[in-house]
Amino acid sequence: MDLLIRNATLPDGRTGVDIAIADGRINAVGAALAVSAAEEIDAGGNLVTPPFVDAHFHMDATLSYGLPRINSSGTLLEGIALWGELKPALTQEALVARAMQYCDWAVARGLLAIRSHVDICDDRLLAVEALLQVKRQVAPYLDLQLVAFPQDGLLRSPNAFANLKRAIAMGVDVVGGIPHFERTMAEGAESVRLLCEFAAEKGLRVDMHCDESDDPMSRHIETLAFHAQRLELQGLVTGSHLTSMHSMDNYYVSKLLPLIREAGVAAIANPLINITLQGRHDSYPKRRGMTRVPEMLAAGIDVAFGHDCVMDPWYSLGSGDMLEVAHMGLHVAQMTGQDAMHACFLAVTETPARILGLSGYGLTPGCNADLVLLDARSTVEAIRLRAGRRYVIRRGKVISQSPAAQATLALPGRPATVDFRLHSG
Ligand code: FE2
Repeated sequence: MDLLIRNATLPDGRTGVDIAIADGRINAVGAALAVSAAEEIDAGGNLVTPPFVDAHFHMDATLSYGLPRINSSGTLLEGIALWGELKPALTQEALVARAMQYCDWAVARGLLAIRSHVDICDDRLLAVEALLQVKRQVAPYLDLQLVAFPQDGLLRSPNAFANLKRAIAMGVDVVGGIPHFERTMAEGAESVRLLCEFAAEKGLRVDMHCDESDDPMSRHIETLAFHAQRLELQGLVTGSHLTSMHSMDNYYVSKLLPLIREAGVAAIANPLINITLQGRHDSYPKRRGMTRVPEMLAAGIDVAFGHDCVMDPWYSLGSGDMLEVAHMGLHVAQMTGQDAMHACFLAVTETPARILGLSGYGLTPGCNADLVLLDARSTVEAIRLRAGRRYVIRRGKVISQSPAAQATLALPGRPATVDFRLHSG
């Protein structure tokens, strides 16, 4: 064997597990494996998980914080205006440099797969070229999946559909959309139809920004589910944000969720962004605006949490830490039961891996040896601590290491060091 990880705890709760790795793949998983390996890592009872996956990001805008100015109100509308100001000044070199820096951060956080939307409304398609270059550059250590995203509206922006088709021809993977931003509800529905038909014709996945609004009548998710079913795209279509569902009438939602389930459409909530951008027109009580995560999970719908933004026109914070995303999602959705907290961990690992259609993801023999060793004993503790990533492993090779999070105390009669894991006894 090339690498043996001893005494790991797995996300499903199994403890004392060894993981043997050969030729970049998981070879065996079990208690006290009788194998030798060139290299051994003692997990010390800590959690070993497949890598974090971010199902919703904007890598063309990331790390542009302050360019050309800071979003002073912090609102969605000022963010869109700011992005419009920044777009003409973008250069391919700067886009690549910022995206590459973000990918370094991602790797250090154990985030090894990202679905990024890329704005195709700029006729130069500079961002598309830049992110395709980044995708090739990071491919040995990070899976970057790109979505052709008509930020200014497929029908509202004159060349958007032609540009989207060009972007797909250049190698962008997924068909995006933004129906709630079209001029009318009817045009939004028409954009969903056109994009789903185009995706079906090309055999591509679909991921639309859908109903990112507090308007309870923004119901494009219903249309998206309808076309996913009609065109037999089950398992290939995702609705991102779906924040209007927060404000919808309960009776309508009771009809809607089974339709989404039947259509095999997945959902992505973006808790950090939804909690900061939605409900801005409310006084008090003020809506949270995140979509109905526990209710969709209960209905059998795949729900992932995405980061959406890091240091860009819409959001000034973030560092590529999907545990921070899960932490916020858990709080906003009030998912505080034991099973619910564990589900929040799956919403940044297994579930987005399924949404992206990643092959070889998991912890069974034959899967890619892509693993993260965390400074935590369970999935819930990992979220509580936003636990450090001691080792990040890609295809059996360590690609990032961090020291244990630990403080040295100078207190009489107290331990010399302290970490924040719960130690029994
Ligand atoms: Fe987004």
